[in-house]
Amino acid sequence: MEPVLLEQNKKKSLHPSLLTEIARKRAFLKGTIDPFRCVAKELELVERNLARSIRCAEQVLTDISAHLILGGGKRVRPMVTLLAFKVVGGKKTEDIVDIATAIELIHTATLLHDDILDGADCRRGKESDYKKFGLKATLVAGDFLFIKAFEFAGKFDATVVQWTADACTRLTEGEILQGFFNRKLEVTLEDYLEIVRRKTASLFQTGAKVGAYLAGAGPSFVEEMGRYGSNLGIAFQIIDDVLDVVGHKELLGKPVGMDLRDGNPSLPIILAIREGQRAVAEAFQSDSLTEEMIRTAVDAIGRGPAIAKAKTFSRSYAEMAFKPVQKLPPSPYRNGLKTLVQLIVERDF
Ligand code: FPP
Ligand code: MG
Repeated sequence: MEPVLLEQNKKKSLHPSLLTEIARKRAFLKGTIDPFRCVAKELELVERNLARSIRCAEQVLTDISAHLILGGGKRVRPMVTLLAFKVVGGKKTEDIVDIATAIELIHTATLLHDDILDGADCRRGKESDYKKFGLKATLVAGDFLFIKAFEFAGKFDATVVQWTADACTRLTEGEILQGFFNRKLEVTLEDYLEIVRRKTASLFQTGAKVGAYLAGAGPSFVEEMGRYGSNLGIAFQIIDDVLDVVGHKELLGKPVGMDLRDGNPSLPIILAIREGQRAVAEAFQSDSLTEEMIRTAVDAIGRGPAIAKAKTFSRSYAEMAFKPVQKLPPSPYRNGLKTLVQLIVERDF
């Protein structure tokens, strides 16, 4: 997604066409404000917090946490939180870094549990934690990170703690709702958006709201920043779904077709079913899926209009995201929030 992180992640042996694509994005970034560099100092403090927070008396909990936290990750949620703080004039770094850390820790805890629920073998280019360390220890490590998150979040006032707790409630609800529609052909676009609002957008929304609130913004702008975060989160998840069909394994760090394999109602799957793609409908609802069925269905989605339509959806949420930010006076942080939206909808991993 971003040159620095791409290098950090040591994405090697990429196909030449991908390298060309990355070069194009670097050129694009050169002319804009890089949201990562905008808050680089604060992100560095978040990294230090993360590394410190995973130390404990049981080495396996540290190892599992380090495997995921220190093995890459785009840090988009802390970035949103930090930019929302800075864009309304937040000054004291110590007022924001701990809650940005908490939000990343919550996200990481959900990923540990999510990979168990999805039966995912890989994450961020490596074996998933539960494959490497076993289900039981990984389950407990998720709880461990969740507790660490609340150690950081609990330092803030009751409003911040409540909003953070609300986001956690909503993302668990989203996961349950997604499970309810597992392999169910009747899932609608509205159902999908409700799942995504809860499972993904809630944490982005809270990060953006908390950032603005802690910088002293008034209630109506705090809500507007919340809408920025929520719409950005929806755009982010739609692209996640798109990449699950047309992404590159080397860049994604995980195989494609996972949503079909798991029966998760992703946007491209829903759109392809609505277009009448029978192979997709059959694969989505089958509980005796073969590799051949997955391949055929993934190819069918990739060839049809579902991907372009899903990207259009993502771009429309991206546009909605930027609306409240446009009202602010120009600043590097405002540009950072704008560029972040663009990067998210154009990302490859
Ligand atoms: C990733 O979605 C998953 C989420 C955004 C939320 C997962 C939430 C839980 C597992 C509930 C547990 C909650 C706590 C607080 C520990 P995805 O599977 O579409 O994304 P992926 O492609 O990255 O796997
Ligand atoms: Mg998953």
